[in-house]
Amino acid sequence: MTAQLIDGNALARSIREEVAGRTAALKARGIHPHLRIILVGEDPASQVYTKHKVSDSTATGLDAKLEVYPADLSEADLLARIRTLNADASVHGILVQLPLPAHMDSQKVIETISPVKDVDGFHVASAGALMTGAPGFRPCTPYGCMKMIESIGYSLRGKHAVVIGRSNIVGKPMAMMLLAQSATVTICHSATADLGAITRQADVVVAAVGKRNVLTADMVKPGAVVIDVGMNRNDEGKLCGDVDFEGVSKVAGWITPVPGGVGPMTRAMLLVNTLEAAERQS
Ligand code: GUN
Repeated sequence: MTAQLIDGNALARSIREEVAGRTAALKARGIHPHLRIILVGEDPASQVYTKHKVSDSTATGLDAKLEVYPADLSEADLLARIRTLNADASVHGILVQLPLPAHMDSQKVIETISPVKDVDGFHVASAGALMTGAPGFRPCTPYGCMKMIESIGYSLRGKHAVVIGRSNIVGKPMAMMLLAQSATVTICHSATADLGAITRQADVVVAAVGKRNVLTADMVKPGAVVIDVGMNRNDEGKLCGDVDFEGVSKVAGWITPVPGGVGPMTRAMLLVNTLEAAERQS
């Protein structure tokens, strides 16, 4: 079997077009959706990510501004800045780029963002809303993965979905979103005894570990849907995911590539969350 590709670039493009249309409609009513991004320090990867977030936003018609602070900014000053932005009605979404410098408590910083502006979906209130099915922002990466599964017309009801990885940002919210669609969900992690024995039972596998070749062809049920969240470099320095793409694509029914899979969808879902933040606050 040769798996069908789920094209994250194409799907992200269509989502951006939809966001652009809804943004234009809001602007016609005098509401300018506005994302404020805070970057503390000079981490090169964070500088690139935040620049992309601003350019994605502005290309879609959203307003986005990046505030950059030195790495020695005090936590108290950062919290004060977030509180000011919480109170600013012209700012609809607030994103503090992670990782933060070691002297800051990231969770405390995230909890200071108003949940109505928490477009990353990292606030404990957003996590609780996801767990209980209440309205709230969904973390962008698992939200994008769900859109990819939805895009192939796949019903998750009664299917066995296996998530590899238990992070607060991807693994846990991913499991909750799959559960909300009535999948039977298993979360695997570094202490899982026999990963292959579990993934071989899976109709859907989401690999979100951050390690190459976590999922190989012998670990996949023929026809399964395989979503690769990983972003790694191989020995030649080329971008690759957590999945052995070449081997697994011969067994799976559908597979997401890296690059061109989950990455562009994560970026697109931030735009959706920002737009929806503005819609809800207007
Ligand atoms: N650092 C890496 N990915 C992310 C993300 O999605 N949001 C934030 N705030 N920081 C990140």
